[in-house]
Amino acid sequence: MMIIAVDGPAASGKGTLSKRVAHHYALAYLDTGSLYRAVARDTVIAGGDPRDEAAAVAAAEKLDPKTFEDPGLRARGVGEAASIVAAHAQVRAALLAYQRAFAAQPSGAVIDGRDIGTVICPNATVKLFVTATPEERARRRYLQLAEGSIPVTEDEVLADIRKRDERDKGREAAPLVKAEDAHLLDTTNLSIDAAFKAAIDLIDAAL
Ligand code: C5P
Repeated sequence: MMIIAVDGPAASGKGTLSKRVAHHYALAYLDTGSLYRAVARDTVIAGGDPRDEAAAVAAAEKLDPKTFEDPGLRARGVGEAASIVAAHAQVRAALLAYQRAFAAQPSGAVIDGRDIGTVICPNATVKLFVTATPEERARRRYLQLAEGSIPVTEDEVLADIRKRDERDKGREAAPLVKAEDAHLLDTTNLSIDAAFKAAIDLIDAAL
């Protein structure tokens, strides 16, 4: 059973890459960021504050996987709220079983997030740590947001990204860090196709 763990900071391109890798090897795919985004959304809908651990845990315990595909989850602001709920250890604990069960399905899986190689699937078949400079990630996210006609400047996106990096790396519960045995894939100067090819080469070589 093949499990490919993909971690990296916000807007590193890991989602696009993971989807293509999953398709290439015919594996199921889970974007774990959508779990934290959905918890943030549900906390606010229930009238709670994402900073309140008990409110966020209550949302995490009731989370419905059918609602992970909501396009509203990609909105600017939801990522920020997601990184707030994601810093609560009990929220992470409430989401652990779902992620491990997903990884354990017989067909194998590609799972992306921040702590997949370190906490969720420490025994993954292959681990990738996908990164790019903050400026390049801001540029990509800005183009994405502009396509969706969201009014925002590239500098605002860069500030969002730096803030989220800081929170994801600096938290005590499962901080964003490259697993020792993860392959580093810096996509700063790579097209989507080139990043995909580099990922496939790394994975094939590790199998
Ligand atoms: O990857 P994405 O930007 O959708 O993730 C949103 C937020 O969820 C991240 O900034 C991070 O704080 C949190 N997250 C996490 N662990 C994961 C996936 C996402 O803490 N495995």
